[in-house]
Amino acid sequence: MDYKVKDMSLADMGLREIELCESEMAGLTELVRQYRAKGELPLKGARITGCLHMNIKTCGLMDALVDLGAEIRWSSCNIFSTSDSSAAAMVKKGIPVFAWKGMTQEEYWWCIEKTLWTEDGEWFPNLLLDDGGDLTAYVNEKYPEKAKEIIGVSEETTTGVHRLLEMAKEGKLLMPAINVNDAVTKSKFDNIYGCRESMLDGIMRATNTMVAGKIAVVCGYGDVGKGCAQSFKGMGAQVYVTEVDPICAIQASMSGFAVKKLENIIDKADIIVTTTGNCDVVHPGVLPNVKSGVILCNIGHFDNEIDTAWLRENAKWTEIKPQVHKLELANGKVIILLAEGRLVNLGCAAGHPPFVMSMSFTNQTIAQIELWKNRDTNKYERGKVYTIPKELDEEVARLHCPHLGIELDKLTEKQAKYIGLASVDGPFKSDAYRY
Ligand SMILES: NC(=O)c1ccc[n+]([C@@H]2O[C@H](COP(=O)([O-])OP(=O)(O)OC[C@H]3O[C@@H](n4cnc5c(N)ncnc54)[C@H](O)[C@@H]3O)[C@@H](O)[C@H]2O)c1
Repeated sequence: MDYKVKDMSLADMGLREIELCESEMAGLTELVRQYRAKGELPLKGARITGCLHMNIKTCGLMDALVDLGAEIRWSSCNIFSTSDSSAAAMVKKGIPVFAWKGMTQEEYWWCIEKTLWTEDGEWFPNLLLDDGGDLTAYVNEKYPEKAKEIIGVSEETTTGVHRLLEMAKEGKLLMPAINVNDAVTKSKFDNIYGCRESMLDGIMRATNTMVAGKIAVVCGYGDVGKGCAQSFKGMGAQVYVTEVDPICAIQASMSGFAVKKLENIIDKADIIVTTTGNCDVVHPGVLPNVKSGVILCNIGHFDNEIDTAWLRENAKWTEIKPQVHKLELANGKVIILLAEGRLVNLGCAAGHPPFVMSMSFTNQTIAQIELWKNRDTNKYERGKVYTIPKELDEEVARLHCPHLGIELDKLTEKQAKYIGLASVDGPFKSDAYRY
């Protein structure tokens, strides 16, 4: 079997870590158990190439796909997000993995290429599973003829969905796509509650700083920004938000956060985190005005939210430890930059906790099954982007309720009719409902 990971001697530790997190991946395990109990392998025949952070929670997703009948090959969607023990553990289980923490950008693309073909050239995926859209763009651009045969792709994150929609608009998306991010049980949980826990984990592992009493600035108050702002508030920081969208700005204000222009608050901030999925948010026009010693980081998908290219040319970089740099600007000010501007929760910590990733990955698994099951129907058309149907979204939530000891009340027929539902078992909301 072909693979490339950092150190196979870490495999046994990785296997023990997988066991530790398995019980928290409750809904995903239950989904697999239900299929297996019926004797079904809904992904039999599927050949999936995955490009998603190669960490311990992703092992749960990979195991689920294999247990449901798929063959998989895997790389990570970020150069810093691999857990080397997880990668080694999956190789020991017989999965071709191409991922290690701290790879170069060139190695990153090499790894993606290696996940598309076996050495004999016999294997090419018929499904893609992506996080951020790099794999999808690569296959569409480099192998357009092959891409036309791919059954579909499921996409994990906001930024990847933006890219899919752009490709679809320009007629460049050669396969059907399922937008996993906008399942309610993904973005309203992973992006909010996941980041609420993992952002601080990253900052604290990297810097050991005291957050209480500090001034924290959260750029962007979408789902990720909401989680980050809550987290800083819970820890006792004074929290400021920057926004461009008046709706999100009022949401922040009414949740108790002052909303200011970045240029008016940057000189007071002790910690700044970008959560926008946009480029040039912390830019050269404001960077020289930072408070010296500021901790600067990003939790959005790509490393262009903070202008790291400008910082490379205009600051003296000293590595304090991997993924933590001290940057000295020409005016003498110091910035502590985490994960070189890449997602801090995955670069400096281990990403979200397993329970919330189980929700995201149950959606991913359902999306893959949907695409594969409908490979000969025209339910999912090439070049179009679909969301997970409401009843499946509710099913993902239902699978996760027992683990939290949740008791659900049951509607009567009369009540269901009174609020306009087709069934006492849901769907409980229309697609327009915002949660
Ligand atoms: N690190 C992780 O674990 C993780 C998890 C989920 C999502 N993400 C990524 O995080 C990013 C944000 O995701 P989201 O779901 O919160 O998106 P979102 O669209 O809900 O929120 C982004 C917010 O940023 C605001 N914004 C845009 N440009 C801005 C600017 N220049 N200044 C201030 N605000 C600005 C937008 O108005 C919006 O409210 C995406 O790149 C996504 O892929 C990361």
